This record gives sequence, structure tokens and C-alpha cells, in this order.
Amino acid sequence: MVIVITYPMHRYRRLRSSKFMREMVRETSLQPADLIYPIFVTEEEGTKAPVQSMPGIFRLPLDQVVAEAQRAYNAGIPAVLLFGIPLSKDEKGSSAYDPQGVVQRAVSTLKENFPELLVITDVCLCEYTSHGHCGVVEDGGVANDPTLELLAQVAVSHARAGADVVAPSDMMDGRVQAIRRSLDSEGFTDVSILSYAAKYASAFYGPFREAAGSAPGFGDRRTYQMDPANIREALKEVKADLDEGADMVMVKPALAYLDVISRIRSEVEVPLVAYNVSGEYSMVKKAAQEGLVDEKNTVMEILTAIKRAGADIIITYHALQVAEWLQQEK
Ligand code: PBG
Repeated sequence: MVIVITYPMHRYRRLRSSKFMREMVRETSLQPADLIYPIFVTEEEGTKAPVQSMPGIFRLPLDQVVAEAQRAYNAGIPAVLLFGIPLSKDEKGSSAYDPQGVVQRAVSTLKENFPELLVITDVCLCEYTSHGHCGVVEDGGVANDPTLELLAQVAVSHARAGADVVAPSDMMDGRVQAIRRSLDSEGFTDVSILSYAAKYASAFYGPFREAAGSAPGFGDRRTYQMDPANIREALKEVKADLDEGADMVMVKPALAYLDVISRIRSEVEVPLVAYNVSGEYSMVKKAAQEGLVDEKNTVMEILTAIKRAGADIIITYHALQVAEWLQQEK
């Protein structure tokens, strides 16, 4: 065995010696343009309601969505991701594909006010179904094929309202193909699809389900979302979605799945999105409130790590705050 002694010829601390030196040799950078800001839009009128489980996040009535999007736009964030909280829910989630639904109205208002800002919509049924599952329930289970038709209707209704990108998060098999075909046959050939391709059945979605009122009424989502123990399966899901016509793919959650992000990055050429989910957000916010960690440094470290792993774009509830921090540094 040959032992190479590098010290004292090599001193790694030389390249860490000053702020400028560190900035010059930095391998990964984070910019507002890398971020997507999620917004919860509620059909309930009145004032914005704080989400208890997510400090700093609100359910916004339709007339306040424009002001929130304005902040994102001013901070240099290129896109928002909309989640709807409807007044009425039923077995088939029909408020999800109502042309006058809460998301459809929010999309058209946003596009009128900010033609350039990209509006991405979450395409799913769980916020709109009385049972809280992401698809049609038959014989006590979530039925794949009957759900596809409804998801396609949701996506087309969002496109008709002006959405730039639709993002299916349901994890049914064949949804990307069903959505692409319907979009194309209705003339929306330029609307892109960002698929939640590798979406795991994760405990980190807890706070979101309070925010969106979308916790399943019975059982859980493990028959459709992925098992956290699997990574080969993530590649299969990603490849299938790309074959079906997805333009961009997502890994969700992000922080506990950096290996999945890294692996997918090395296997596909399309833009890779990572979702820094509600539980990841709230853990940092609560710990910072308790004085256990420094919020800014912790958030920057986490988001930098997600990019270093290979994500091009990050969906994060910290987006506004981060973009404002980045602007202050300039
Ligand atoms: C809807 C959906 C969920 C999230 C995004 N889209 C919830 C779920 O699958 O239960 C989670 C987002 C987050 O936790 O921030 N299917």
C-alpha cells in the first residue's frame, strides 16, 4: 500500500481563507430563479387565515392571491404553485374540475395581473374529495383507471383558465399520458407537465394536510405513493412519466431523499424539481422559534444541499423569505 502524504504541500484551508475566496470556489449556488413558491388559495371569503402547523404560511382568499404573487414576482421568483381549498367536497372531487373552481379563478386572475409569472397548478383530487383520497374510491380502495379521466379534466380546466404548467401529484399509473392526450386534443399543446414522478408515502406531508384539509378519511396513501425504502422504483416511475410525455419530473420530499435526487439527476436530461415539503419547512421554523437553530443559515444549508444533490429547481415554502435574503445580500 502506498501512503501519499499531502500535507504540508497541500493546505485545503487556503481556499477557505476569506469570504471572496470561498465565493469564488463555491460549486453550488442558489438564486431566486431556482425557486417555486406554493400558495394555498381558499374559496372562503374574508381574511387570510394562518396555518397553525406552518408558521408564516396562510390560506389566502381569492382577493389576496394577487398581493402574495406580487411579492414573489418582485423578489425574482419565476413561478408559483397553486393549491385549492374548495368550499364543497364530494365523492368524485367535482369542485376540482369546475370551470369556476377556486384554482381556476385564481389562475385567471394571476395571469391577468402577471402575464409573465409562471402559474403551476397541483393536479389532484384529495383536496376536493369527501374521503380525502387522491382518486375515485371503489370497493374500499382507490381505483386507478376511472381516476385518470377525472385528472385529465382537472388539468384541462386549469389549462383553460391559463395555467402554464400542470403538476399531477396523485400517483395513479398512466396519468401523464391521459393528461397529455387530453391537453393536446383540447388545443393546449403548449401547456407543460411537471410530474410528481417519485412521490413517496411520507410522514413529512403532515402539516400540508392540515393546511389543505386533505388528510385521508380512512386508510393511508401507501397503495399509490411510493415506499420510502425504494430507489430503483423511483427511476422506473421517472422513466415511465417521461415516456408518457412529462416535460419535467419531481422528487418529493427532498431532504430525506437526496440520494434519489442525485440518482435521477445522473440518469435523465430533463429539468429536475425537488419539493421541500411542509414537514421539512415546519421542523425548521419550529426549531428556529425555539432558538435551537438559526433559521437563515439552516434554510440556506438545506436548500443548497438539495441543489448540490442535483435538483435544478426547488419548490419551497421558504421561497419568499429566501429570495428576500438573497436580494439583501446583493
Ligand atoms: C396532493 C399533495 C400533497 C402534497 C402536495 N400535493 C399531499 C399528499 O400527498 O398527501 C404535499 C405537500 C407538502 O407536504 O408540502 N396530493
